[in-house]
Amino acid sequence: MSQLTIALTKGRILKETLPLLAAVGLEPLEDISTSRKLTFETNQEGVRFIVLRGVDVTTYVQFGAADMGISGKDMLLEHGSEGIYEPLDLGIARCKLMTAGIKGQELKSGRIRVATKFVNVAKQYYASQARQVDIIKLYGAMELAPIIGLADEIVDIVDTGNTLRANGLEPRNAIADISSRLIVNKAAMKMKYQQIQPLIESMRAVIEASAG
Ligand code: PRP
Repeated sequence: MSQLTIALTKGRILKETLPLLAAVGLEPLEDISTSRKLTFETNQEGVRFIVLRGVDVTTYVQFGAADMGISGKDMLLEHGSEGIYEPLDLGIARCKLMTAGIKGQELKSGRIRVATKFVNVAKQYYASQARQVDIIKLYGAMELAPIIGLADEIVDIVDTGNTLRANGLEPRNAIADISSRLIVNKAAMKMKYQQIQPLIESMRAVIEASAG
């Protein structure tokens, strides 16, 4: 059997991913959350996890450095899915990609400024609304941008809505429903089919059982 590398997204998604992997019999040999390591051997010989920021998981899988990965749909929409299959919606880490702005403030007409880390998603969305925008790329704390006057709107992930509320913002338009997806490098899917396909099927069974 060849080595199988699975890229996991650190943070919130990881917490919901590990029980799912354990349910299909895949467990890291060390506690990922308390380790500074980036690669983890698992209880299955030849299968290892690498732990990355969400934005990098799609890149590793696209180039085949990881055979498979678990990625938020937001990252897939932003990155594009060249070279990547997306066989399974894992139904975890559900949230929405939304526009948001200052509560009660009407959006001015004409060209607006939008702050986001989802530059491609935002460009496409506002174009679909026939709205002229200048996109400002940020790497975090998007909620600050309207308050400080950097932008008229933001495009960001909304889960409970607490972060928006705490900053005097309101959710406006939903752009996409987000959840985590199992992704597979297209070449790896062919070369390592015997290893990858059973894994996809057992994850599918676990998800269907928990949804059922
Ligand atoms: C996301 C997003 C919001 C927050 C929304 O950040 O950017 O800030 O969650 O969640 P809520 O609606 O439940 O308040 P996350 O914590 O994932 O960290 P990030 O800044 O790395 O995206």
